[in-house]
Amino acid sequence: MANESSPSGLGIRVNGLVKRYGDREVLRGVDLEIVAGHTVALIGPSGGGKTTLLRCLNGLESFDGGTVHVGEHALSAPVQGRSPSPVKAPMGDQASQVVAIRRSVGMIFQDFQLFPHLSVLENITAAAIWVLGENPTTARENGMVLLERVRLADFAHRRPGQLSGGQKQRVAIARALALRPRGLLCDEITSALDPETKHEVLAVLEDLKQEGLTVVMVTHEIGFARRAADRVVLLAEGAVTEEGTAEQVLDRPRTERASRFLARVMG
Ligand SMILES: Nc1ncnc2c1ncn2[C@@H]1O[C@H](COP(=O)(O)OP(=O)(O)OP(=O)(O)O)[C@@H](O)[C@H]1O
Ligand SMILES: [Mg+2]
Repeated sequence: MANESSPSGLGIRVNGLVKRYGDREVLRGVDLEIVAGHTVALIGPSGGGKTTLLRCLNGLESFDGGTVHVGEHALSAPVQGRSPSPVKAPMGDQASQVVAIRRSVGMIFQDFQLFPHLSVLENITAAAIWVLGENPTTARENGMVLLERVRLADFAHRRPGQLSGGQKQRVAIARALALRPRGLLCDEITSALDPETKHEVLAVLEDLKQEGLTVVMVTHEIGFARRAADRVVLLAEGAVTEEGTAEQVLDRPRTERASRFLARVMG
């Protein structure tokens, strides 16, 4: 099942990341180090900044302070004042850093964002053909391998509208993998799914971990965090409140804020 040609995971480093919306500081100096190949569960209360952090990691969002390193690529806040452009570089061409990061890190969302008018296989091959310039035959062959990996080979010629939520989400994962990323950023990708289909999607992610991809997963699935996460990060009110192994963070939180949150999510 493992793809021999899969590139290995990349490391991610965040230093002093500050993000404001108007006067509101939603990330308040986030520091975070993610080891290449690790699966990290990012948990925390609603509004704590999880989605904003993921968006800053792949240049979808500008930020106001600090730096983000993704593999060998770096993003920084503008040196002075606000920048109207997505992210401004202190060094070299920041736009090209954003492009490079988006090529090396895939992002998957809660609502799948598949093209409804394309088949499952076409959804997967489109990115490889247009972004990587793969020839259509190779892209289709690779697409079928990916569909097998997410256990959907029999669904290649269906449209997304004919799939369950869990199947759609697995197509979205296969589509992200078609660009041969070294990391995946997943934002609550199982939140809209029922328990059974949730399990199918989580099983695919656990496979990816075995293949060495770096995965950052915003999740409320505490069971997944225990089983599959190398590290658990708790982000609350724009700051990393806890970081450690699942056991450290979930069973022996050091802060009152973390205990309160965990008591709620673990019932
Ligand atoms: N585009 C925006 N404009 C203004 N405020 C925003 C914007 N996006 C997010 N925010 C605010 O930033 C804060 C962090 O939001 P974010 O979506 O990152 O939280 P989250 O941890 O992902 O929450 P949830 O668990 O509910 O998804 C929230 O207070 C939110 O209202
Ligand atoms: Mg969110």
